[in-house]
Amino acid sequence: MPNNVDQPRMRYSIAAIILHWIMGVGFLLMLGSGLTFENWDNMPQDLKFNVIQWHKSLGVLLLCAVALRLVLRFIIKPPSLPAKLSNLDKIAAKAGHWALYAAMIIMPVSGWIMVSSSSYGLPTIVFNWFEWPHIPDLAGNREIRQLSGGTHEYTAYIFIGLIALHIAAVVKHYIIDRINLLPRMGIGKTKS
Ligand code: HEM
Ligand code: HEM
Repeated sequence: MPNNVDQPRMRYSIAAIILHWIMGVGFLLMLGSGLTFENWDNMPQDLKFNVIQWHKSLGVLLLCAVALRLVLRFIIKPPSLPAKLSNLDKIAAKAGHWALYAAMIIMPVSGWIMVSSSSYGLPTIVFNWFEWPHIPDLAGNREIRQLSGGTHEYTAYIFIGLIALHIAAVVKHYIIDRINLLPRMGIGKTKS
């Protein structure tokens, strides 16, 4: 009789799965909106203003979500990686996941520093719901504004590269190694 009690857990916790997919969509919307308002030269001013307010609102909520996700990750350990993966693939998977977490933190934190050090002093009102405070003592600090702006921009490109690699890795494991990782993230059934 199959006994699954001692089997290692095959999938992420339901909380990790829900957060993974909601945040995945959220970060893609953030990258899409940021690149749009930065590169659309003749974007109407009022639309640009509204999109940036929306970008800031979703961005700080994603910062809270990544904090929650990391706390949960320490409480509920992720399932161990499939034994069929080579040691190199296991190291690459872990490094890739931590690099994604780093980008998920650096992006909103650099955005927060950027708006806190701006000389405009525009508040961040999260979806007209509550005010997210600025980091104190930074207002009007040009050096910090420049540094955080550069970090925000360049990390965005690195983040896009990491997401592309992440998806490519899932496809590579599916096609070449014949390992379907998607059920571990809640898409489809795991084999028992
Ligand atoms: C913004 C987009 C995304 C981000 C930031 C992201 C981030 C992450 C992170 C950090 C993990 C590791 C979870 C952990 O161990 O705590 C993970 C796992 C995973 N992701 Fe994504 N992800 C994104 C999009 C996607 C997409 C589009 C797919 C579908 C191809 C996908 C499929 C998976 C799968 C299957 C796993 C489980 C890997 C395993 O077997 O351990 N992700 N993702
Ligand atoms: C959560 C993840 C975030 C992502 C993925 C993201 C992504 C981006 C991208 C791709 C750009 C365009 C960069 C460029 O080409 O220069 C941008 C610009 C910007 N972001 Fe974010 N962002 C995030 C969070 C935030 C947060 C939390 C804030 C503020 C509270 C913020 C405020 C801004 C501002 C003000 C700009 C315009 C910068 C300028 O005019 O120089 N972002 N963002």
